[in-house]
Amino acid sequence: MGLPSGLFGLRRPSPIGMKGRPVRVLTIIPTYNERESLPTVIARLRAAVPDAHVLITDDNSPDGTGRMADEFAAQDGNIHVLHRTAKEGLGPAYLAGFAWGLEHGYDVLVEMDADCSHQPEQLPLLLDAIEQGADMAVGSRYVPGGRTENWPLQRQLISRGGNLYSRVLLGTAIHDITGGFRAYRDTTLRALDLDSVQSRGYCFQIDLAWRAEQLGFTIVEVPITFVEREEGVSKMSNDVTIEAATSVAKWGLTARAKTLAGKLGIGR
Ligand code: GDD
Ligand code: MN
Repeated sequence: MGLPSGLFGLRRPSPIGMKGRPVRVLTIIPTYNERESLPTVIARLRAAVPDAHVLITDDNSPDGTGRMADEFAAQDGNIHVLHRTAKEGLGPAYLAGFAWGLEHGYDVLVEMDADCSHQPEQLPLLLDAIEQGADMAVGSRYVPGGRTENWPLQRQLISRGGNLYSRVLLGTAIHDITGGFRAYRDTTLRALDLDSVQSRGYCFQIDLAWRAEQLGFTIVEVPITFVEREEGVSKMSNDVTIEAATSVAKWGLTARAKTLAGKLGIGR
């Protein structure tokens, strides 16, 4: 049974899901030193999709983001906080958030940056795609209608380069495989063998999308406008870029070796 269209989103009631109850959405926001951005992203998100719950996954930020998140949670029953002990990267922070969300029975799990580069007002676009049958919705800068705003040229080149590299090595059909504004059905995440994910930095995004694509899930790219942050700084580093480059090469070669072995009848 499909869900009637257009029920998620701006001040609309929760749709009734296949399980005979309203669909529960959890937006996971990983944070490391995002004190300046957090109040804005929370206010905009709560206004844009009031029914969605929020999980802030903080890596013991020295600037006190975690304490600030606790204050939001104390005032708002839809806000939750997961405190982690040390900065381990985006990947482990999301994995901890997914585990918490799946344990608590959420139906749709969303990834969103804390710095408003992912505009909370565009979250209904991702939820609509899920509602219309996608197993995973990816906010995309690189499909018609998608774009970036105020992003430094160097970052644009790295991002375009990363997507091209992934396209060549993995043969992926996803145009914005590094993008971090996404929604997954719980059933999709449960199928991805999250226990085996080792990616720490932004290649975590490639890792999960590639797993979903290989399993044949329906992945829908939704055009978004990515707006460069106005507060705080990016956590992008050379280590993260090197991890992505080597991991993607490894995954691509492994996939090709498997295909070749299949053709030659090895391992049958
Ligand atoms: N908990 C935790 N731990 N959060 C982290 C960590 C970490 O080690 N590193 C980064 N984050 C959080 C940030 O606080 C922010 O909310 C989000 O992850 C994204 O980090 P940014 O540092 O703002 O990323 P960016 O703007 O450079 O990169 C964007 O573009 C990349 C390339 O397309 C993001 O959208 C990435 O997801 C994307 O891969
Ligand atoms: Mn950012």
